[in-house]
Amino acid sequence: MSVSCIVGNRRSAKADAIVVFVAEDEKHFKAAEKTLTSEIPHLTPVFESKDFTGKANQTILAYGGSATAAQRVILVGLGESSGVTLEKFRRAAAAATKRAAACNCSHVAFEIATINGIDSASIAQAITEGSILSQYRFDKYKTIKDEGNGNMVKKVTLITDKAHQKAVTKGAGIGESIVDGVTLARDLANAPNNEIYPETLAKRAQEAGRKAGFKTTVLDKKKIEELKMGGLLGVNAGSVRPPVFIVMEYMKGPKNEKPLVLVGKGITFDTGGISIKPGAGMSDMKSDMHGAASVIGTMYTIAKLGLKRNVVALVPSTENMPSGTAYVPGDILTFMNGKTAEIDNTDAEGRLVLADALCYADRFKPSAVIDLATLTGAIAVALGTVTTGMMGTDEKTKNRLRVAAEKTNEYVCELPLYDEYNELIHSDYADIKNSGGRYAGSITAALFLKHFVSYPWVHLDIAGTGIQPKASHYTPKGGSGVGVRLLTEMLRHW
Ligand code: BES
Ligand code: MN
Ligand code: ZN
Repeated sequence: MSVSCIVGNRRSAKADAIVVFVAEDEKHFKAAEKTLTSEIPHLTPVFESKDFTGKANQTILAYGGSATAAQRVILVGLGESSGVTLEKFRRAAAAATKRAAACNCSHVAFEIATINGIDSASIAQAITEGSILSQYRFDKYKTIKDEGNGNMVKKVTLITDKAHQKAVTKGAGIGESIVDGVTLARDLANAPNNEIYPETLAKRAQEAGRKAGFKTTVLDKKKIEELKMGGLLGVNAGSVRPPVFIVMEYMKGPKNEKPLVLVGKGITFDTGGISIKPGAGMSDMKSDMHGAASVIGTMYTIAKLGLKRNVVALVPSTENMPSGTAYVPGDILTFMNGKTAEIDNTDAEGRLVLADALCYADRFKPSAVIDLATLTGAIAVALGTVTTGMMGTDEKTKNRLRVAAEKTNEYVCELPLYDEYNELIHSDYADIKNSGGRYAGSITAALFLKHFVSYPWVHLDIAGTGIQPKASHYTPKGGSGVGVRLLTEMLRHW
């Protein structure tokens, strides 16, 4: 995938298809009709038919004939101009790109339209994101061509004028770095357990660091034992594959700036362990390292962008397997900070590996810590697959995430951490127990984590948003890459 920016117009642009955005309201629509039909006569019958109204994401494809250098012209609706947002552009760009791909186009050019007071750099970024992300597929294991791995658009050109060239080029570049991070996160999340397990996850993090420019250190089982990470070792006990603890450092901010620390749950497969999960849908648990995928993707993007910030990312990684050596209910684990937890359910494993990572985060004297985890099925019951659950102690960071969420459409919604819920994770034998039962499942999981936190902290439960049951707009079925756009947006405007 590549994106470039050229100065030109809808007639001169060379591509397999040129895309023109059209808003729905009368003033805009009529003006578009007038210029489009005068410049491209073949569009006259299209407008006469009234088949195309400019409704959001509606597309129509026509052939420009001798009027356009591109063989095809795709009109795509933006809806009412007063309601146009960056998300409208992402979705419209995705719809147009899919329409082009359906005609075997591999190169699509977009005419950059400034509308509703949105700056052209942001529009260029949004079009890049929507267009390229809509073409994502996890099809590297398909050796037979079918509708799941048909033709793809591979090249995107943004057309602008001299006055906007600089801004559009910049926006497209930002969009491209973001797309690359999201794509990496999706690839990691979608990869099956026989491709991505702790050691290969670490290899991919190292490779991302080499390519984008951040430092990666991988702590092996021996080091994890020395650190007394009892949560990570406990969950790993049933697995033949050893655990890893991945440390990524990107320190391009001021020397005295405390780093932001990201933590990603890296369970490369969650069988539930001895408290084994039912078989139906268990394959989704190959994506139980989506939190890890999100933080690795974010590190990749911010390094590519060259942000002047200090950011550290931590990934505790293991499988959760049942076996003769596995941890069992009733076991008591001791974490890196000396606290203990009674195991009520071996399927509540994410909080156990995160607990050690949250202890480890301490040594970076973080300004704040944000963890991302496919932590509870309960969050999908509460918020579905649209909104990430947000909990934590740091109002400032929560507000920053809220602002970034509205801009990126990676929504967040806060759940409370009232002290009263703590009785649900009371243990008679240890400091706490690892499961609080069905009620308030996402909250008790977060309260468990809160025991290991000694700095401003926010927890994002992405169990609903990370694993999508079906494709939509520019997001595929399966691993969504959620978090990369959200965190990058937040870090760019910190
Ligand atoms: N990885 C799961 C949560 C999950 C469920 C993620 C569905 C994505 C989709 C987590 O490890 C888990 O099993 N949580 C349990 C906790 C319970 C045992 C307290 C759950 O949600 O049922
Ligand atoms: Mn589990
Ligand atoms: Zn899990």
